Amino acid sequence: MKFVATPLIPALVLSLLGAGADARSQQPPGVREVNGASELLMRGKPFLALAGELGNSSAGTAAQADTILPRLAQMHFNTVLMPVAWAQVEPEEGRFDFSILDHWIDVARQQHLHLILLWFGSWKNAFSEYAPGWVLGDIRRFPRALSTDGLPLAILSPLGEETARCDSRAFAALMAHVRDRDEREQTVLMVQVENEVGYLGLGGRDRSIQADRLFESPVPTRLIAYLQGHRDQLSPELAARFKPSARTWKEMFGDYADEVFMAWHYGLFVSQVVEAGKAAYALPMYMNAQLPAPFERAGEYPSGGPYPRDQAVYRAAAPAIDFYAPDIYWPDFAQWVDRYRLIGNPVFVAEARPDVASWNALYTFGEARGFGFSPFGVDSLPVQTEHPQSGPSIGDVYDALDALKDTVLQAQQRRQIAALMLQASSPRPSQTIALGGYLFHAALSRAWPSGAPPTSGGGMMVIEERPNDFLIVGGGLTVTFLRDPDVDNRIAGIAEAEQIIRTGSGWATERVLNGDQTDQGRALLMDAHQLQIYRVRLYTYARRP
Ligand code: DGJ
Repeated sequence: MKFVATPLIPALVLSLLGAGADARSQQPPGVREVNGASELLMRGKPFLALAGELGNSSAGTAAQADTILPRLAQMHFNTVLMPVAWAQVEPEEGRFDFSILDHWIDVARQQHLHLILLWFGSWKNAFSEYAPGWVLGDIRRFPRALSTDGLPLAILSPLGEETARCDSRAFAALMAHVRDRDEREQTVLMVQVENEVGYLGLGGRDRSIQADRLFESPVPTRLIAYLQGHRDQLSPELAARFKPSARTWKEMFGDYADEVFMAWHYGLFVSQVVEAGKAAYALPMYMNAQLPAPFERAGEYPSGGPYPRDQAVYRAAAPAIDFYAPDIYWPDFAQWVDRYRLIGNPVFVAEARPDVASWNALYTFGEARGFGFSPFGVDSLPVQTEHPQSGPSIGDVYDALDALKDTVLQAQQRRQIAALMLQASSPRPSQTIALGGYLFHAALSRAWPSGAPPTSGGGMMVIEERPNDFLIVGGGLTVTFLRDPDVDNRIAGIAEAEQIIRTGSGWATERVLNGDQTDQGRALLMDAHQLQIYRVRLYTYARRP
């Protein structure tokens, strides 16, 4: 049958298409993984969160929004992680005040920024400073974790039933308020629930009478069943200790017992808070963690925090948590990102060092195919880089990523993107990316004539746009191009290289690169200190005529 266009059909198709788009625009934000790429969905479409977290004392007044948010927008951030303190929103029991948050939401909208809220409820960096005075002053109703010397710590016990009830009630009130105010606009994208939880103190676990009693009791069958059912997903450390036929925590988890016990109870507590919040407004909700340093003992770092090692315990206790995110302040950035990713978390770096953020951001979006990256304390960063020698700022990187965001999102899906970074102190002088049939071999640029490498290191993200055509975002590197021997034995060469810049909706060539800038056609010599976007066309030729 031949298709006959009647005026009705296009109208119907259009209205159906419109209905689809409409339905998508009503969807609340969500997080998912597709083809190994992590996606944060906004109105049904993937969104790259070029984010940064505020300092802890930067969002306690409404007026701070007026100065901080316009600066961050100017620095090319599109998302800001901001604390919302329980003490601020419920100063007296049952009396809620969201006026400060409301102003931040208004200013964020004016600045075209999104927000991720950090619920500083019962815990922030293990301690309970952000809980209201009426909670902290009543240690009978809201019990504290006890140290080995029997003294109450400045840490609410996760075993406090009233604490969990009141924290959940406050969080539910917050989420209901955000839904009423923001469901349509979707300025608020996600929520982090509590902050870097865990027991900090001697002995590695709460030593209250209640905790001791539970610690000597049989391990809950729900936890045992989950760990048995997910044996293949346990971390090697947990799997090596887990003895399902044992009875008590000590017998079942050996030298890990204190930590697993704390992880289970923090998990149960946070689960209650998350479920209450989601019942009001089901935004994606995640937990962050202070990562242990090498040789630290549980209690020196927050014992029972949501680390990759104990993630199965959290998944058993708190199935409503959407994912776990690392706060990476240690040098081995890439390994931590991979560890979180390999156990099934969408990649979102919740906190990172601001001073080395630039290359780590490229790695997160390019190599780990993450949806978001958020250095800490960004409101203290200068708007303009003060010393050009200190390398590109996170604002420079976000500026480039914003210009390329659609290309990056597509390339993440198609696995046509990769990234690497090299530190000036790196024990490895070079690294290689394999993409689109070529090897991109990168070494730190050498200044001419001194021969010194850039102190800020170097990094790059490579995107395959079309066969043989690549975009390279980076700086501080010299890149040579080889044919991937796994593809064929031809030889690679540079056909064209240029430095490009976004101009409105298009792109312009700033410089055609050749001569010294391509080492006479043999390499791409990036700017040693500044981030640039390069377009490179490669070709291959046979080894013999
Ligand atoms: C990690 C915490 O989560 C942040 O709130 C902040 O305290 C940083 N550490 C600063 O060191």
